Amino acid sequence: MDCLTYAGNLRNLTAVADKPGYTFTRANICDRAALDALLDEHRPRAILHFAAESHVDRSILGPEAFIETNIRGTFVLLEAARAYWKTLNSAEQQAFRFLHVSTDEVYGSLEPNDPPFCEETPYAPNSPYSASKAASDHLVRAYFHTYGLPTIITNCSNNYGPYHFPEKLIPLMITHALEGKPLPIYGDGMNVRDWLYVGDHCRALRLVLERGRPGETYNVGGRNERSNKEVVAALCAILDELRPDSPHAPHRQLIRYVKDRPGHDRRYAIDATKLEQELGWRAQETFETGLRKTVQWYLDNAEWVREVQSGSYRDWMDQNYTTRGEMAAQEHTR
Ligand code: TYD
Repeated sequence: MDCLTYAGNLRNLTAVADKPGYTFTRANICDRAALDALLDEHRPRAILHFAAESHVDRSILGPEAFIETNIRGTFVLLEAARAYWKTLNSAEQQAFRFLHVSTDEVYGSLEPNDPPFCEETPYAPNSPYSASKAASDHLVRAYFHTYGLPTIITNCSNNYGPYHFPEKLIPLMITHALEGKPLPIYGDGMNVRDWLYVGDHCRALRLVLERGRPGETYNVGGRNERSNKEVVAALCAILDELRPDSPHAPHRQLIRYVKDRPGHDRRYAIDATKLEQELGWRAQETFETGLRKTVQWYLDNAEWVREVQSGSYRDWMDQNYTTRGEMAAQEHTR
């Protein structure tokens, strides 16, 4: 089920469209009647809740959609799940899972030498986006403690990989570099993220769904801390290698340092020990192998990129980037 707002795209599902276990419904998680009808029709043994507004820059320029989808939507989905769960027999109730997919951003920002976030790190969200996800996590936790609904929360670090909507750092830089457009790095480019290949994240979610303990939280991270500067440099190097004849090579010449994001969190890093020790999960991709696969995917899927860069995408690019300008600070351009 998906609402198919700006980043939703049924084309991303063509590989599974013919599978017997797959069906699609277009609906909003704020629509209780639609949820009730869907649960009644399919009688699922689990709900995986990925539905969210997820882009920090959008949450800064327009926070309301984040409150509506991430907080109210999660509340409505929990209510629908609780009502449905009560209709199950006790074996089904025990086996049922509500898996809430969240973010490491709820833990706030780390200093360079701080230990990475673990499941006990206190919440300290800094953006309207992360505050809305923190609120939804608290609701999910409360439904376990108050009603016994078998919920599990996962908090992941920054995902990347195929089908990533090109408003986020990695797909934005790849698509811009291919078109010879500027590569806009916010601030000094020294903000650090812990990159997780999307396939590794999906494998973690399957494990948590099968063997995770209700009421628990599991952090998912790739142990791949990189500054934005390093990420963009690595992307440029891969593109130089895969597209040596591009008129834009060397691609690093496209890098521009632009006005920073307000309240920009300095560093995120995840300690995934619990997931590794309890459920035996390991990331299969290194940052280098995952990034190469990702760049190759964007090279092979130019048509997909063209389609998602529709009118509303262009409006967003104008809204987010035209006012940032280019920073004069020459020392950043090396
Ligand atoms: P993003 O992909 O938006 O994820 P998040 O903010 O959830 O971590 O951004 C990742 C990092 O890249 C973040 O530090 C902001 C930075 N960034 C840029 O420097 N330029 C950009 O154009 C974008 C979209 C992000």
